[in-house]
Amino acid sequence: MKNNREQWGSRLGFILAASGSAVGLGNIWKYPHMAGQNGGAAFTIVYLICILIVGLPVLLGELAIGRNTQLSPVGAFKKLSNASYWKWVGFLGVSSAFVILSFYGVVGGWTLRYTFFSLFGGFDALSGNSDSSAKIFSLFVSNDINPIFWLILFMSLCMFIIIKGVKSGIEQAAKIMMPIIIVILILLVIKGLSLEGGKKGLKFLFMPKFSDLTPSSIVMALGHAFFTLSLGMGTMITYGSYLGKNQNLISSALWVIILDTIIAMLAGTAIFTIVFAMGADPSSGPGLIFEVLPTIFPQIGGGVIWGTLFFFILFMAALTSAVSILEVITSYFIDQKGWTRERATLSFGILITIVGMFCSLSMGSFNDFKIIFNISFMDFLDELSSKYMLPIGGALTALFILSKWSVKTFLDEILVGVQTRKFDKGLLLNFLKVLLIVSSFIVGLIILNELFELFFGSSLQKIAGF
Ligand code: PHE
Repeated sequence: MKNNREQWGSRLGFILAASGSAVGLGNIWKYPHMAGQNGGAAFTIVYLICILIVGLPVLLGELAIGRNTQLSPVGAFKKLSNASYWKWVGFLGVSSAFVILSFYGVVGGWTLRYTFFSLFGGFDALSGNSDSSAKIFSLFVSNDINPIFWLILFMSLCMFIIIKGVKSGIEQAAKIMMPIIIVILILLVIKGLSLEGGKKGLKFLFMPKFSDLTPSSIVMALGHAFFTLSLGMGTMITYGSYLGKNQNLISSALWVIILDTIIAMLAGTAIFTIVFAMGADPSSGPGLIFEVLPTIFPQIGGGVIWGTLFFFILFMAALTSAVSILEVITSYFIDQKGWTRERATLSFGILITIVGMFCSLSMGSFNDFKIIFNISFMDFLDELSSKYMLPIGGALTALFILSKWSVKTFLDEILVGVQTRKFDKGLLLNFLKVLLIVSSFIVGLIILNELFELFFGSSLQKIAGF
């Protein structure tokens, strides 16, 4: 069974695939509006701290577990813990993948629809008219058929890439799409900055407003650090399992973090410079992309092209992430159940598309869920995964390394493939220990707080009086 496992073709290919997983709707859709509504740079500072203190050690941990075992999450935890209950962390990952892709695919479909909508000049009629743009968007998402058509198309592309395999599917797709995303984003930033008044957008995004930073925005920043780096559900364990021993995990992890962060900042800059130049509302939340941008693209020169390019990169970013989510499930069935890649991908890709249909319908005629639980099925899946499942999965991974695998073995695994050995190993060991303890502690505290709020209606910080 050993050397049958497919491996990445090159180091660059792996870094692009892993950052392709990290860069997604989280960077281009979620981050800009979250920063916009939660204190601009103040939010960004907290988010960066979370990425470095919590994200980096968990990312390294996942990559090391994957490479060490050459297995996807369930098998990996089983192997390293001698089949004890830790394998449930792997199952949690597979379930999170299922939950996330069910709504991620729906939004992925929207990005595809908006790319064509822009290409065929559909935004022209919405120019400067935010009311009709919002109406068009809500009519589209609540339609029973249209979004499902785009969801099926998006999920089919995702399954197609995965079936082609690790090297000629996932890696190849990332190698083509990631450079295009970066180049187009840079062009959009240049365009945004060249517009009159665009620079005000920079101030909005990068000037810290600490008064807008609430405790709940700190929780949001932490959850988002997991979401944006694709952590806490075994994606990076799976991607790490296709790595050879000669790869430097530390520099690869840093590359993924740097690319993910730069792309989020570029996206924020492109969006807010254009929004400010056109005098649109910067704090309009999740609707910023699908409701506000279509009204302002027609107002800038070459709007059809810029609008189409923007939604096209959003679509590509979503696709490379969706691929990494489905790969977690596919690789579980290949590794643990001996299924073929085609069978695993098609069975679960189709099943998730069906759950995605319910998600989409939950915004249309199937809104009983909302009536009963006061939240749409789609928002429920989003909250469940990014607020609870991913942070819990990430914290448990950190705890697993601390209490079962041992930080020393973890460090040894990281150091395989690192050329320079001119550092103090003891110091590094303690540093890693502290980071892992701090990350599991912070996540534990925050989740406790969330649960407290959910069940008792009052958060711990309110009870403590701040
Ligand atoms: N990181 C992706 C994004 O930012 C989402 C994702 C989450 C992908 C979890 C894989 C696993 O959009």
